[in-house]
Amino acid sequence: MLIYLDCDTGIDDALALAVLLARPDVTLAGVGTVDGNTTAVQAAANTLGLLALAGRSVPVSVGGGVFLGGSETVHGSNGVGGVSLPGGSVDPRPAPSLLVSLAAAHPGELHVVALGPCSNLAAALALSPSLASQVASVTVMGGAVRVPGNVSGRAEFNIANDAPAAAAVVAAGWPVTLVPLDLTMGCRWDASAIAALAADGRPLTTALSQIIPLYYDFYEEESGVREIPLHDPTAAALAVGLLTPSDAPVLGLRVDPSSGATIEDPSAATRARVVFEVEGRPGPAILETILAGDWPPST
Ligand code: RIB
Ligand code: CA
Repeated sequence: MLIYLDCDTGIDDALALAVLLARPDVTLAGVGTVDGNTTAVQAAANTLGLLALAGRSVPVSVGGGVFLGGSETVHGSNGVGGVSLPGGSVDPRPAPSLLVSLAAAHPGELHVVALGPCSNLAAALALSPSLASQVASVTVMGGAVRVPGNVSGRAEFNIANDAPAAAAVVAAGWPVTLVPLDLTMGCRWDASAIAALAADGRPLTTALSQIIPLYYDFYEEESGVREIPLHDPTAAALAVGLLTPSDAPVLGLRVDPSSGATIEDPSAATRARVVFEVEGRPGPAILETILAGDWPPST
């Protein structure tokens, strides 16, 4: 399965990257980064550092977006909990160009996984009128359809950060699967995951064990429980078939261009498959997949 990942590497994006890399049947063809949890430039540096620890070489392109700041308390000053990662060199192509070129080179085979705001995807659609017909599927972590949002009563961060871009993505005519807070807030790790990753002891899992505690701190402060929701890893796991939807209707769906609300509307011209439930226990499945990854050992 050939994947283009678009992300704002962030702490849960880092976990999602590990899920994708751990799957032997997945080829990560390229990564584009977008303004969101941190700047697209910083997200690219974070992604390159994680790829280095995973022993992988994948083109990473910087994209654009709308950097609003304000996520430092959730993802840390550098987007990955303040943890220093190895360096790397970005691909010179802008992220939208990388996506367009990969889709053109692999028509009907490229699956897009978007874990941040949709700015790069919308820019790529504007760059190439044939993009939507070339892409096999699009999985977007974002939205809050039947539950409250996390940036306002109705809006979720990825969608609200660039609502016009999200509206363009939903309206593009390619097969969109939306993985909203309705599902991801219930896919969780408790604090035992930190210890499990630390005990694994390889450079990538050790780094993840150092990156995620800040995320636990934020959510413990917010909810009183030391657990984290697995927003991006859940979307990545669904995209590659690690998780199977048990309730995923195709709905008429509108994105309010000003508020970023994702509104269920049977009369809407735009439609998306919305995953509300998955089979089994997503948290343990995601952790087991990362721990089973073929990562380089400590030197
Ligand atoms: O609302 C959760 C989403 O916003 C996740 O993708 C998280 O990484 C942030 O980008
Ligand atoms: Ca993200």
